[in-house]
Amino acid sequence: GSAVSDSKNLRVKLVLLGDSGVGKSCIVLRFVRGQFDPTSKVTVGASFLSQTIALQDSTTVKFEIWDTAGQERYAALAPLYYRGAAVAVVVYDITSPESFSKAQYWVKELQKHGSPDIVLALVGNKADLHENRSVSSQDAIDYAEKNGMFFIETSAKTADNINQLFEEIAKRLP
Ligand code: GTP
Ligand code: MG
Repeated sequence: GSAVSDSKNLRVKLVLLGDSGVGKSCIVLRFVRGQFDPTSKVTVGASFLSQTIALQDSTTVKFEIWDTAGQERYAALAPLYYRGAAVAVVVYDITSPESFSKAQYWVKELQKHGSPDIVLALVGNKADLHENRSVSSQDAIDYAEKNGMFFIETSAKTADNINQLFEEIAKRLP
């Protein structure tokens, strides 16, 4: 499940996992189209989008993004999307402790059944709602460190740290 490379052009299969409503589709829409849709519909099954970024050394990275459905009824489909993925982005909502627990469930699942060299990112989304924060950054940092994951807080609404998320992932590719 590693990145497919053609000298300076990498092609990377990336999967997003996490509870319904944490903002996975909004993160992808922000990254790929630079937009935010406050009326975003729940994802059914999964959706696919791709986006290419250029790194400083002129390498390009094409992310082939599987945005999975977080609703419980779709949980059994997840392995179809994370199997063979070079990168998994596990998302929670900083205002929802339940979503942070669910993120930990996905991390365990990926550690058991994902590619051994998978790059794991933990993302606390909806950082703009800091007045309603109920997952501390420190708890997430500690968890991520323990599990060898990259951690970042983002807001799909304000675009805060969205490009940085994908740039940091690109730097960590094997
Ligand atoms: P499923 O497809 O069911 O798994 O959900 P999802 O994780 O794709 O959630 P989605 O992206 O559809 O976003 C759910 C809701 O959260 C939408 O109403 C968005 O407007 C809102 N939302 C997403 N990202 C943010 C954010 O960064 N800040 C705020 N304030 N709201 C957000
Ligand atoms: Mg969605």
